[in-house]
Order: sequence, then structure tokens, then C-alpha cells
Amino acid sequence: MSEQHHPLTDFVEYPQQEMLERAQAHYQDIKRRHSIRKFSDKPVPQEIIEQCILAAGTAPNGANHQPWHFVAINSPDVKAQIREQAEAIERGFYDGRAGEEWLDALKPLGTNASKPYLETAPWLIAIFSQKRMETEVGDKNNYYVHESVGIATGFLIQALHNAGLGTLTHTPKPMSFLSKVCERNADNERPYMLLVVGYPAEGATIPDHAINKKPLEEIMTVL
Ligand SMILES: Cc1cc2nc3c(=O)[nH]c(=O)nc-3n(C[C@H](O)[C@H](O)[C@H](O)COP(=O)(O)O)c2cc1C
Repeated sequence: MSEQHHPLTDFVEYPQQEMLERAQAHYQDIKRRHSIRKFSDKPVPQEIIEQCILAAGTAPNGANHQPWHFVAINSPDVKAQIREQAEAIERGFYDGRAGEEWLDALKPLGTNASKPYLETAPWLIAIFSQKRMETEVGDKNNYYVHESVGIATGFLIQALHNAGLGTLTHTPKPMSFLSKVCERNADNERPYMLLVVGYPAEGATIPDHAINKKPLEEIMTVL
């Protein structure tokens, strides 16, 4: 491919005061994102999910190979299959596979093997990472796959929050069953994360533990 460039025409520079206000407003808004574990069954139009996935697809990534695929699941039948398999895995996890230290760390969140939200929430988004990129002239290697898909997932969570939706990052371990349920090619794609998406149920709560975020001086060093 030739090394052609276009002029950058859509960068927006704000006055410094406005920059600060925008940064503050963004922080205040993203502070309201919480992992939701009790979802309502209120439907969410597909086109909203599509816009959020388009936003995720703009994430920076290794060599612009965009090593991701998003399976948006609305089908009650597929959601039921995912719940059944995820809960079976979670039972093994909570019954010992996790180990004492991990289970201790999860205690303040109050999570257990029961995952009704996998069926209640209107959408599940299964995110897959791709080892290689298929092109017309054959396969090409992908680079920084884990980092790239992580950033795209962050963009997606942010886009969903910005649209007014609640999310939960759910990671039953192992997640390989998702390849089969979602009919993806397991040779090239690995399930990366399962996002539960929808409106919080009435009376949904968030664990006190999760609200405690580290202060700036602990997470930032200026040199
Ligand atoms: C990679 C990853 C995996 C997670 N897996 C689960 C999970 O399987 N089940 C769950 O209830 N929460 C899961 N969480 C959510 C975390 O518990 C949650 O983000 C954390 O407690 C902070 O709370 P907050 O998201 O409300 O800020 C996961 C989060 C991440 C980033």
C-alpha cells in the first residue's frame, strides 16, 4: 500500500478555560459509570448499539488492523444458552477454582454464580480478538492484539455510558464456549469479554467497595 496522507481537518482546538471545563465535565460524567448487576428488560434499539460499536471501532490499534469483532446478541435463545453455560462455569469458579484469595477479593462485591442478567438485559455484546487479519491476498499477522482490543472495549463502555446505558464487564473463565454459541472461528478469534448492556433495574444497587477510587496522588506522578 502506498504511503499517502491527507491533511488533518477535523482536529478541534479549544481555548484553555474551555479545555479545563470539558475535562472536568467529562470526569463528572464518567464518574457516574458503575458496573450494573441488576438489569431491566426494557428494550434498547439496535441502532444505538450499532453507533456505540462504530465508536469502539475508531480505537487506536496495532498497524490499524482492527483486530476485533463484536457480536451483539439480542436473541432470547442465544442469551439463554450463554446464561446456562456461563453459570455452569461460574459454579466451578465459586466452588473452588478461583482460590481463597480471589474469592476474598470478590466478597465486597457480593457476586456469586447466579447470572440472571445474562437473560434479562436486552443486549449482550461478545467481544472477540483476532490473531490474524484475513485479506484478499491472504492472512496477515495482527499486532498488539490484547492492548488494541482492550482500548476498543474501553471506547465501547464509554460510548454505551454516554448513550445512557448501563454495562457490566462479565468474564466467565474460561470463555471459550462463547466461540461456539456465537458461531465464530475459534482458530483465529478468542473471546475477549462479554458486556451486558441495558437499563439498570429499578432498585439496582452498587457495592460501596466499587465506589472507592484511588486519589490522584496515588495514581499519578508528575516528573
Ligand atoms: C476485565 C474485567 C473483568 C470483570 N469481570 C467481572 C465479572 O465476571 N463479574 C462481575 O460481576 N464483575 C466483573 N467486573 C467488574 C468489576 O468488578 C468492576 O469493574 C469493579 O468492581 C469496579 O466497579 P465499577 O465498574 O462499578 O467502577 C470485571 C471488570 C473487568 C475490568
